[in-house]
Amino acid sequence: MAVIPVELSGRSYEVHVGTGLLSDFIALAGDRLRGERVPIVADTVAWANAGEPLERALNDAGMTIELFEVTPGESSKGWSMLEALVDWMLALGIERRDHVIAFGGGVVGDLTGFACSIVKRGCNFIQVPTTLLAQVDSSVGGKTAINTSAGKNLVGAFHQPSLVIADLATLGTLPDREMRAGYAEVLKYGVLGDREFFDWLAADGPKVLAREPDALSHAVATSVAAKARIVAEDERETSGVRALLNLGHTFGHALEAETGFSDRLLHGEGVALGMVLAARFSARRGFMPEDEAQQVGEAVSSAGLPSEISALGLDCSGQTLTAHMMHDKKMEGGTLPFLLLRGIGAAYLDRDVVLDDVAAFLDEQLQAH
Ligand code: NAD
Ligand code: GLY
Repeated sequence: MAVIPVELSGRSYEVHVGTGLLSDFIALAGDRLRGERVPIVADTVAWANAGEPLERALNDAGMTIELFEVTPGESSKGWSMLEALVDWMLALGIERRDHVIAFGGGVVGDLTGFACSIVKRGCNFIQVPTTLLAQVDSSVGGKTAINTSAGKNLVGAFHQPSLVIADLATLGTLPDREMRAGYAEVLKYGVLGDREFFDWLAADGPKVLAREPDALSHAVATSVAAKARIVAEDERETSGVRALLNLGHTFGHALEAETGFSDRLLHGEGVALGMVLAARFSARRGFMPEDEAQQVGEAVSSAGLPSEISALGLDCSGQTLTAHMMHDKKMEGGTLPFLLLRGIGAAYLDRDVVLDDVAAFLDEQLQAH
């Protein structure tokens, strides 16, 4: 088991990564568990597939579960589910010192974290991420949010969990496509700041995707450690350091918007393709060697992730995609800072990118192949 600290003044916590951790939940949670009733907010499918060890651990300790089930899907991360969840927490009499358990992927983690940030002006929560994406990214760092009709993740709060338990055994039932989508975020840590990790993934990525325990454990622990370092340095994304985590997200978000935030393109798939585009655009501008941009593309496509926009079958122009970018949360005074690359492992924030240049580049990519 790996234990990775997230060092934040007054709000530090640990991320535990290992196989079978849910059976040790009582010991890991310690005195965070108060009373005999334990509130759990769970993705219905994740709970049915992977909830049993947690249920058994709590029952064996004489505790009963109060379960709030969340229907899988992005549409659950909205006002109506938030209202229902908050009402449920208030009816249970959740107090500030209590801990609510978020069991599932990023949808449940973001929704539960946000509810916990507002109930009684803030109560505690424990993240139990059950997707690869949630284990390496969304459960760590305290970004919580819901979607509204104006866009994704536009209403939210920074609210850190008090503990994260990433049990790799829960990934055993994760569909392969979701596994690949999470792998895109793993790859992101290599591309943005760790050439050695990127090279390791280029060789051993198939073992991670095949869920071989040692490879999976190394990939998740290395990713979490990278995220923990970045979050500790720039918790609220003010200095530009945390913004590095958005590598691939500006291109990816535009593609997700154009595909209606639907199953046509999962978030992780958008990030994968977005990283390839960021690398190609960087190479086109002469910031990054062309062969390194190609290596990013190969790492993405060999993982079975989309690496060509043209494969999405979009009927739109580069301008359509840059128009989506204008709604990005990261817009600053009418301009959009872009995450670009000087090489693999060397991402940087470029504030001088001209959106018309991006649109022209995207036009070429839409027509290629
Ligand atoms: P998700 O929560 O929608 O889960 C994906 C699918 O996997 C769902 O259908 C779910 O039912 C299923 N599932 C979950 N665990 C399972 C298991 N163990 N076995 C079988 N099926 C299982 O998606 P996600 O990819 O985990 O998260 C995406 C969300 O995370 C988006 O809303 C995104 O905005 C958010 N996000 C947040 C952050 C952050 O920093 N807070 C970072 C990245 C992404
Ligand atoms: N997923 C981006 C961040 O946590 O900042």
